[in-house]
Amino acid sequence: MLAAVDTYLRTERVTLRPFGPDDADLLVELDSDPAVMRYLSGGEPTPPELVRERGLFAAYETAGRAFLGWFCLRPERDGPLDEVELGYRLRRAAWGHGYATEVSSALVATAFTDMDVRVVWGATMALNHASQRVMEKVGMTVTEPLPTPEDMLAVEGAELGGYRYAITREQWERRRAARG
Ligand SMILES: CC(C)(COP(=O)(O)OP(=O)(O)OC[C@H]1O[C@@H](n2cnc3c(N)ncnc32)[C@H](O)[C@@H]1OP(=O)(O)O)[C@@H](O)C(=O)NCCC(=O)NCCS
Repeated sequence: MLAAVDTYLRTERVTLRPFGPDDADLLVELDSDPAVMRYLSGGEPTPPELVRERGLFAAYETAGRAFLGWFCLRPERDGPLDEVELGYRLRRAAWGHGYATEVSSALVATAFTDMDVRVVWGATMALNHASQRVMEKVGMTVTEPLPTPEDMLAVEGAELGGYRYAITREQWERRRAARG
């Protein structure tokens, strides 16, 4: 159900709400698609106890109420609180409709308008062009190349490494002003 009280954010087409313990099956199903996991773990499902801990937001199509996947906007576990990571993982059926861009854009705006955030960043593998395009479309740029983490060395394209993308509050404000 999409009770208003549970709603974290609503964009034109998508409603985000915190994941609850009852949503574990949705995550397991999401992570069981090899296409979804292509540039991620390699298909390991998300353990239910992590559903709450990781602070993910479940994304639903507002009109049809279909489950689309998840987004996150959160500081790293031991990192500074004013640097938040943007992340997303959508069901294959939801790809290509602009949902990731629509919601990411709203999350970046939320970070800089409602939260005391200085930087929004994201990390992606070099081969993950869809993810890179989403970040570019919301105004993020590459700040540094990243080595592939140990636990992802078996993933396709691991030898190419990845990139860290980021946007600062100042960059976001300049972009907003330029767009009117
Ligand atoms: C990454 C992901 C969330 C993108 O979701 P999406 O809703 O399909 O993205 P959008 O529709 O907003 O598209 C954003 C842009 O990426 C482009 N794009 C989409 N798939 C692409 C691909 N395979 N290669 C190149 N560009 C691609 C789109 O064309 C669009 O750019 P455009 O407007 O200039 O044409 C989705 O592909 C996904 O869940 N992938 C699996 C999980 C994953 O890899 N998560 C990210 C880990 S870092």
